[in-house]
Amino acid sequence: MHISLERHLDKFIAGRTGVKVLFPLCGKTIDMRLLADQGHYVVGVDIAERAFQEFFIEQNLEYTEEQLKNVDGKLFKSMDGRIKLYCMDFYLFTKEMEGHFNAIWDHASVVAINIEDRIKYSQLIQEVMSPDCKYIISAIQYDTSKLPGPPHNVSENDLKELFPNFSVQQFDEIDRSYMYKVHGILKIFKLNG
Ligand SMILES: C[S@@+](CC[C@H](N)C(=O)[O-])C[C@H]1O[C@@H](n2cnc3c(N)ncnc32)[C@H](O)[C@@H]1O
Repeated sequence: MHISLERHLDKFIAGRTGVKVLFPLCGKTIDMRLLADQGHYVVGVDIAERAFQEFFIEQNLEYTEEQLKNVDGKLFKSMDGRIKLYCMDFYLFTKEMEGHFNAIWDHASVVAINIEDRIKYSQLIQEVMSPDCKYIISAIQYDTSKLPGPPHNVSENDLKELFPNFSVQQFDEIDRSYMYKVHGILKIFKLNG
């Protein structure tokens, strides 16, 4: 589990059961397994098919694989249906596919996308948020003159512009300098509707 999810699981789940969680640009993060094991429902979206195959093999989980009907991509699903991983371009994901989400874990995701795609990304996210949605974002901040990115810096102000109907609260900071070879701080934000 990523240290930040571990530290903030209580705020993310907020005492709820059977939470439907979206992991945009999920890769093969083990956080998806952890939440599914706790009885929640996980939907991940990523373009990298290999990440999904590795996820299920590494987690020793049986899965099914099927072609999506109305969009170019595949759905990988654990046998108990608690983990559904959509292998497709995230910008083609729609609320018709999985409805609304009660929680979104955005780790190294909004920071990974092209800066010119941010508005498209934030609009899509807002379309799939349920009214009780807890949306937590971890975003790296570092001196971009020393490293070009991605990951790109995403500041509190950037998030306020991208999500104008939400208040943005920063509630944690983690030193990540060891990962980026420059002074890097991971800031954790929560969006409140
Ligand atoms: C930095 S990784 C983060 C993975 C994961 N969130 C984590 O914390 O480990 C960024 C991921 O975004 C995926 N990605 C980038 N652009 C995408 C797109 N347009 N649609 C779907 N996935 C995309 C990449 O395949 C990659 O797995």
